[in-house]
Amino acid sequence: MKKTVVLTGDRPSGPLHLGHYVGSLVSRVALQETTQQYVMIADIQALTDNFENPEKVHNNVYEVLADYLAVGIDPHKTTIFIQSMIPAIPELTMYYMNLVTLARVQRNPTVKNEIQQKGYGQTVTAGFVNYPINQAADITAFQATVVPVGQDQLPMIEQTNEIVRSFNRIYKTEVLVEAEALVTKTARLSGIDGQAKMSKSLGNAIFLKDTADELAQKVRAMYTDPNHIKVEDPGNLEGNTVFEYLDIFATDKQKIQELKDHYQKGGLGDSKVKQYLLEQLNAFLEPIRTRRQEYIKDKAYLREILLKGTSDANHITQAVLAQVKQAMHLVY
Ligand code: TRP
Repeated sequence: MKKTVVLTGDRPSGPLHLGHYVGSLVSRVALQETTQQYVMIADIQALTDNFENPEKVHNNVYEVLADYLAVGIDPHKTTIFIQSMIPAIPELTMYYMNLVTLARVQRNPTVKNEIQQKGYGQTVTAGFVNYPINQAADITAFQATVVPVGQDQLPMIEQTNEIVRSFNRIYKTEVLVEAEALVTKTARLSGIDGQAKMSKSLGNAIFLKDTADELAQKVRAMYTDPNHIKVEDPGNLEGNTVFEYLDIFATDKQKIQELKDHYQKGGLGDSKVKQYLLEQLNAFLEPIRTRRQEYIKDKAYLREILLKGTSDANHITQAVLAQVKQAMHLVY
């Protein structure tokens, strides 16, 4: 039986956080057991909004890799590689750009949102609005059929599949294959400030590498029910980040239910619930943090993994690129 091909990745613009964990890392750890999985550290994409900070992107390649290894992405089972070291990707990007109208790239809701968030307005670069086309190249270069991502990435998969269909129709081929997004159950995690999305740029993230002290500080600052002022007041669970996190990261379901009942009735203070959440999060993050510290110290080992993965990824993508060029009459 032909194995499912999975391609996914992250921008190395910072270390990974709990939002990444629930949105995609956890599913990658599972998928590597049953599929052929490629995980890309998307440094070209990271440069689209960090082109003035190349050192930052460079360093974060290692940070992201250490995060991967620490959560259990196994380089013997998953091919981990660096996007900029795969020449087929920018080459495919150039070909695909002809197949997408400017109006179409400008309509991408995730890109629109980012342009607004970053305050780019009319100064947005061509490279930035183009990144979904680059991402289509990432995915199709591996003929990936499954892409595990967070919810905000769905427009990228849609764009990819439009390109696949146009390409195959125009160049009368079947070389490109459509991909399916795999969105995890808890695909989205709120930030500690209660905003809908945890993100580094919003400053509301708990990183996998956070020390126990940093974690404690962030949990203490977490958003709860703003109307729960006195301990004896009844509290609301709706939109209450502390309870959202407990549901995801705490294991004792009965204890969670007891806390919820008590909180809603009144008489349970936020600091007590936060203390419990802190213990639970620490139990979860402590082993990850420890492994991560070991990995990040060993640059030579990290480089070895990246070079091996990148070499394997190059083989696969060159084969796909050759077929693409054949279909486009670019073989002379
Ligand atoms: N856009 C993704 C993010 O911001 C990263 C990414 C780049 C990606 N290329 C990809 C994800 C290909 C899945 C597949 O997190």
